[in-house]
Amino acid sequence: MNSDIKHIHSYYSPNDLYNRIIEGLNKLGKDLSKITLDDLHPVDEFHIRGDTATKELIELSGFTSNLHILDVGCGIGGSTRRLSHETGCRVTGIDLSDEYIDTAVRLTTLLNMQERVKFHAGSALALPFDDNWFDGIWSLQMNMNVDDKLSWLGETYRVLKPGGHAVLYEVCGNKNTPPHFPVPWAQDSSMSFLVPPQAFRDLLTSTGFEIDVWNDKTDLAMKAFAKVEKPVGEPNLPILGVYMLAGNDISTKAYNLRRNLEEERVSLIETVAVKPGL
Ligand SMILES: C[S@@+](CC[C@H](N)C(=O)[O-])C[C@H]1O[C@@H](n2cnc3c(N)ncnc32)[C@H](O)[C@@H]1O
Repeated sequence: MNSDIKHIHSYYSPNDLYNRIIEGLNKLGKDLSKITLDDLHPVDEFHIRGDTATKELIELSGFTSNLHILDVGCGIGGSTRRLSHETGCRVTGIDLSDEYIDTAVRLTTLLNMQERVKFHAGSALALPFDDNWFDGIWSLQMNMNVDDKLSWLGETYRVLKPGGHAVLYEVCGNKNTPPHFPVPWAQDSSMSFLVPPQAFRDLLTSTGFEIDVWNDKTDLAMKAFAKVEKPVGEPNLPILGVYMLAGNDISTKAYNLRRNLEEERVSLIETVAVKPGL
């Protein structure tokens, strides 16, 4: 693996993740033969506004049951499964983290969704798929870890069929002021590569995409984090939560995200970008 992304890979590689989630579900008294998407959402939707944002993005996507969608940077597959569940489409997820992918596969089997939802471990910078292969792209909060955004967007564009839509939900920079660290996607600045929204939009169009939808969701993110206080003392962690994916300092990371949003250091964008050709 390229040394540039090795430390990002290790940030997203918690030990024994699947078993810890199962232990959590058991502690919560869940019957493992009847687990639902909603039982998992506290831990498997690792992006701002969690399943609420996922549902809005599904609505926005217009994806339908006849389509095969690629989820780039899928994490442990919460939104990957929800997208398939709500629309009936087939979804393939890819993520840098082997531990996340192992967990994604096992949770998907637990939910009996493995026929329509598949996963691969690999990098978004070298997608192991043919040109013009997927009907749509879905990518939620991965760009922050990608320095070479043109390669990522170029790969995304390459595997998308002409006329296909890419739904992206991304943290961007804002006023060119560096964020406070740590944040949920990065322990420090060596893992975080934010560009302001307009620069992100320019990268999309220079790749060849046409922008169909462009919504600034920063206000909604600020509302969601408005009550996050500076943590004091030992963290009081829930039984299931994204701290399992990103570390026990998640409360500090969430607090810093609040400051970064309020101080206009980061912003939140959702976009639908189209590969022309039909
Ligand atoms: C904040 S998480 C979001 C996960 C998921 N999209 C979600 O919303 O639950 C960022 C994800 O991007 C993945 N990632 C970072 N850089 C990547 C790369 N170059 N290729 C593939 N995945 C990458 C990480 O492993 C991590 O799972």
